[in-house]
Amino acid sequence: MTLLIFLRRKLSLTGTKLGCAEGGCGACTVMVSRFNPHHNQIIHHAVNACLAPLCSLHHCAVTTVEGIGSVASKLHPVQERIAKAHGSQCGFCTPGIVMSMYALLRNSPQPSMQDMEEAFQGNLCRCTGYRPILEGYKTFAKEGGCCRSRRKGNGCQQLFDPSEFMPLDPTQEIIFPPELISLGKQPPRSLRFIGERVLWIQPSSLNELLELKAVYPAAKLVVGNTEVGIEMKFKNLLYPVILAPAYIQELSSIQYTENGIEFGASVTLTMLGKKLHEEVNKLPNYRTEVFQAILEQLRWFAGQQIRNVAAIGGNIMTASPISDLNPVFMAAGCKLTLTSKEGKRALQMDDKFFSGYRKTALKPEEILLSIEIPYTKKGQYFSAFKQSTRKEDDIATITCGMNVVFQQGSNIVKDIKLSYGGIAPTTVLATATCNRLIGRWGEELMEDACSSLAEEMTLSPSAPGGMVTYRRTLAISLFFKFYLTVQHKLAQMSVYMCVYVKPNYASAIELFHVDSPTSVQLYQAVPPGQSTDDMVGRPIMHLSALKQATGEAVYCDDIPQYENGLYLALVTSTKAHAYIKSIETDDAMAVPGVVTFVSAKDLPGSNKTGPAVCDETVFADNKVTCVGHIVGAIVADTQAHAQTAAKAVKISYEEIQPVIITIQDAITNQSFYQPVRTIEKGDLAKGFHESDNILEGEIHIGGQDHFYLETNCTLAVPQGEDGEMELFVSTQSASKTQALVAKALGVPASHIVCRVKRMGGGFGGKESRSTILSTVVAVAAHKVKRPVRCMLDRDEDMLVSGGRHPFFGRYKVGFKKNGKVMALDVTYYSNVGNSMDLSLSIMERALFHMDNCYNIPHIRGTGYMCKTNLPSNTAFRGFGGPQGMMVSESWISDVALCCGVPAEQVREINLYKQGEYTPFNQCLDQFTIDRCWKECVNISDFHQRKARVELQHRWTKRGLSIVPTKFGISFTAIFLNQAGALVHLYTDGSVLLTHGGTEMGQGLHTKMIQVASKTLGIPTSKIHISETSTNTVPNTSPTAASASSDLNGMAVYNACQTLLQRLDPYKARNPKGSWEDWVKAAYFDRVNLSANGFYRTPDLGYDFETNSGHPFNYFSYGVAVSEVEIDCLTGSHKNLHTSIVMDVGKSLNPALDIGQVEGAFMQGVGLFTLEELRYSPQGYLYTRGPGMYKIPAFGDIPTELKVSLLRDAPNEKAIFSSKAVGEPPLFLAASVFYAIKDAITAARAESGLSGPFRLDSPATPERIRNACEDKFTKLVWTYTPWDVRV
Ligand SMILES: Cc1cc2nc3c(=O)[nH]c(=O)nc-3n(C[C@H](O)[C@H](O)[C@H](O)COP(=O)(O)OP(=O)(O)OC[C@H]3O[C@@H](n4cnc5c(N)ncnc54)[C@H](O)[C@@H]3O)c2cc1C
Ligand code: FES
Ligand code: FES
Repeated sequence: MTLLIFLRRKLSLTGTKLGCAEGGCGACTVMVSRFNPHHNQIIHHAVNACLAPLCSLHHCAVTTVEGIGSVASKLHPVQERIAKAHGSQCGFCTPGIVMSMYALLRNSPQPSMQDMEEAFQGNLCRCTGYRPILEGYKTFAKEGGCCRSRRKGNGCQQLFDPSEFMPLDPTQEIIFPPELISLGKQPPRSLRFIGERVLWIQPSSLNELLELKAVYPAAKLVVGNTEVGIEMKFKNLLYPVILAPAYIQELSSIQYTENGIEFGASVTLTMLGKKLHEEVNKLPNYRTEVFQAILEQLRWFAGQQIRNVAAIGGNIMTASPISDLNPVFMAAGCKLTLTSKEGKRALQMDDKFFSGYRKTALKPEEILLSIEIPYTKKGQYFSAFKQSTRKEDDIATITCGMNVVFQQGSNIVKDIKLSYGGIAPTTVLATATCNRLIGRWGEELMEDACSSLAEEMTLSPSAPGGMVTYRRTLAISLFFKFYLTVQHKLAQMSVYMCVYVKPNYASAIELFHVDSPTSVQLYQAVPPGQSTDDMVGRPIMHLSALKQATGEAVYCDDIPQYENGLYLALVTSTKAHAYIKSIETDDAMAVPGVVTFVSAKDLPGSNKTGPAVCDETVFADNKVTCVGHIVGAIVADTQAHAQTAAKAVKISYEEIQPVIITIQDAITNQSFYQPVRTIEKGDLAKGFHESDNILEGEIHIGGQDHFYLETNCTLAVPQGEDGEMELFVSTQSASKTQALVAKALGVPASHIVCRVKRMGGGFGGKESRSTILSTVVAVAAHKVKRPVRCMLDRDEDMLVSGGRHPFFGRYKVGFKKNGKVMALDVTYYSNVGNSMDLSLSIMERALFHMDNCYNIPHIRGTGYMCKTNLPSNTAFRGFGGPQGMMVSESWISDVALCCGVPAEQVREINLYKQGEYTPFNQCLDQFTIDRCWKECVNISDFHQRKARVELQHRWTKRGLSIVPTKFGISFTAIFLNQAGALVHLYTDGSVLLTHGGTEMGQGLHTKMIQVASKTLGIPTSKIHISETSTNTVPNTSPTAASASSDLNGMAVYNACQTLLQRLDPYKARNPKGSWEDWVKAAYFDRVNLSANGFYRTPDLGYDFETNSGHPFNYFSYGVAVSEVEIDCLTGSHKNLHTSIVMDVGKSLNPALDIGQVEGAFMQGVGLFTLEELRYSPQGYLYTRGPGMYKIPAFGDIPTELKVSLLRDAPNEKAIFSSKAVGEPPLFLAASVFYAIKDAITAARAESGLSGPFRLDSPATPERIRNACEDKFTKLVWTYTPWDVRV
């Protein structure tokens, strides 16, 4: 059992969250403290509770978020600051981040910014964009205070006031329990824990360990459990005996030897790093070349929570081909000491040590005792490199250690070792290449080495991990970096004939480093006369933020267990397209605690379901149409039992052809959903005729997983009569959930209540796909007549729930010599998956945004929805808009490259002007793009930046881009543009507000309370929102389309107005009375103190046939400038600067709105530069967790980020002149993508390449490197890939 399960299920301490169960998100972070009797010291570490075996915590103290403070008692400054700095939106990541910061402060009460950045490497947040978290916590740092560059005056204010913060008083912290110190001083005793499936033994001495290993040669040694834990949870491996050498002194010791330092195998990576740092600071540089290389590897090794527990021995013995340390140890020729009952032996870490994939030369009864890491000598140079998709906390694409020894005082190579991970099933040495290099050095050697490496470092076409061309290019490019680094050092040492590296090459030898971020937020303060009670327009904190920071906020899975409650686990298809021949459940039913198996046979109502069209099934019946298709579910007493049993269900299939996975497959097979949509305006033939140039191009835009930190969760509670059921669901669509559950159960919707307190993020992923799980859970609860709950594991969630649609755009564009576009014919293809879901509306929105902000006189857009054997893709922030606009920026970029005109100039001359019409004939009134553009150019210092960007180095290039966005606000399904609210006034003056929207972190409830408070004229503290429920406000639209504040805000306003009118007579009678007096007087006068409100957006409606009417109520506008730097040799990039100017009308709450702008922008950064869903050609999703799927982390935020909300831009079409903000800013991250493209253009120019080139999204290091064609890319050739682009 893990510590996390124990905390949540046994102790009901639900503040610690489950986000991934694989150590990749940090939501489960707690602080573990232990006493080290050898150093007489207490050590505090942040640890991932999801990987920490409960048995490993003997004699440890565990501090959870609940333990450090609460709203009910006293907040801890760490909790207060993240909340008040607006660093908590949905709050699901917040307790983990709080605990990482807390653990850091326990070790270092005034940390540096670098300490903080390191502490957060293992924490993810999907909502905030990280900036406000860092901003809040900067107040603890040495560098301290709030942002130096924040402007004051000019009507602009700060988003929070640091002077309000409680001081940190380290003396007030909880003490380590003294009894654990005395226990720790006693001689260690061996321990045994006997579980259902596993025997855990913690021996007290090395001898006992070796005896046990002789008895149980197959037993695993577990130190950090960061590898074994993953194998048992995700790879379905079972190790019946585990030996835990935690307290064995010999394995944890660190000793100096003549040649280096010997580290016991259980020494943690944190300890290793600490020791090596000390040595590097103490010894001359030449002695510590290997140590420095290891430190560089550790900088990018996992997150701190992992490094705090993971051991060197675990890394070596896992024998992973992408281990970060093994190539270094191998190139350095480290000495390993192995031991068993039979005695010790020493081995050198060379290419024979790893005997196969995850195999070593150890005998079964042997263990690794220690590793000696050598000092280096004069004339020896060592480097290590790790290249990964995301720099922080990511597994390596390629990792290597490179070691060269020169003959004394010369540049003649005496010995060289190049060791690579990520090239073969084991860590390998490039022996042939090394042999060829002995006795030489210089340019010619470099060229020869590169050709030799290209020959030696081959990869099979189907090599796991894919990216074959890229990996081979990297193997060579990294050697080139090593060559330059050594060359530079030789020159520094004045070695004969060695000259300094050319200045424009020098950047190639710099280690990847990002400066600490700074930021500026600008917004318009409320006018001086505004009443202090009127909270509209003020940056008030998200009203649940404090509870979120203390872990008191209740999410769906935090609802206490029902005594007779059961758990559900899904049984899903492993085939993409097949008939189900049989389902065998005997083994599953034999698992202890299993109650039943649920399948299509158990539905009392209809098995047909779907949010818009009923074209899918609750449970697959006879046929599956994607991997991950839900076939059935197991219900059991615990989640572990349910999951074990679900894995034991055997399904046999008969496969059906064709299996259509990619858009290209669908085009080949003409596999499309109907209708095919078209929007056309002008006369294309005429437009092309009038053009000076015509070009054609293509772009593929990859999909995106929502990666809300809280996965889908439902608790269904049968009420015992009339088929009534109460559902607690993490959903954006309470009413849709209610309707689809009612349909499946065959009862009227009035018998089903769906309740939503809050979500740990939604982003569109819980708009329709959440109903699939809710319906399954409801059917199971109906069958067993007991409460049933299911919170999907991250891998299940990613597998079954679908994401943003991948798009493929093909275009033909006609334009004048100056870049003015005259005609555009664009075709979109979206990868819809195995059911329609919301894909038609998503395609329509893509078409509505095919012009982005550009006035194209003659234009036609056509959209095809590809029917494929993938899980149904669905809504995701932007809802097709970003994909539509991304294609338009691609042709803008092509036009600019073709005309040789700067892209910003092409954008500017094509921009719409006030009063012009879109392709769907909607007039652009209150058009503010021109103002946003000007301000953005100004605050970003665009022109000076441009001049600087043009000063180029050969191997690092900078790029700059400015991108506008226009986003239509309204649901394009007209009937959804309605909302309801219900307001109750109680006789003590308190107000219970309910409306149709759900809270998923965006601050909707906070804004609605602000609206009610202003309308009723009472403080926000009198108003409470408890939840969203279908029995208070019925027939609600999903909380989506950015329109929820607009719609619900008006409904709340409407209800409050009704109540105000009813109170008017009592106010008139007692003008000096208080709110409470008027409410009481009305009550005694028998006035109804409950009112509902309603709103429907007027004048909406668009007809595709006639291309007339208004699809949107209005548009939101924004502009962003981004500057990046790419490393042409590795494809890594840094986001150096982003400025955003966003028109949010008259902001209801600038803190929340800026939070949405930054959060959406960072999600867009993920979409366009980082996140890549990878599928096998058979439709199997490889990327099922944070280990392989990389969302932006703390280190990905721009080093300099400026966000400005456009001033004086009231919007008369929404509540209190505000504007929608949730989705529109996301697309502005395209500025980063096109800045990267700008930098690649400069790199290509070095190789004599010019003109348009295709760059697909996301611009990952692989794509960037491959696009920067040079002499190294020419040495490798392309293979058939391991994965396919869907
Ligand atoms: C989120 C996450 C991120 C990660 N990031 C990285 C990364 O960036 N780079 C990287 O290289 N790895 C990474 N890893 C892999 C893993 O953390 C490391 O390999 C780690 O060093 C394993 O150490 P451990 O103590 O946790 O091993 P455990 O899981 O406790 O054990 C691992 C294996 O080593 C064996 N073993 C341990 N000690 C001995 C011994 N003394 N003698 C014989 N066998 C022994 C065990 O039997 C077991 O097979 C990551 C893992 C996770 C979960
Ligand atoms: S839940 Fe533990 S790291 Fe994600
Ligand atoms: S606030 Fe961080 S994930 Fe939602």
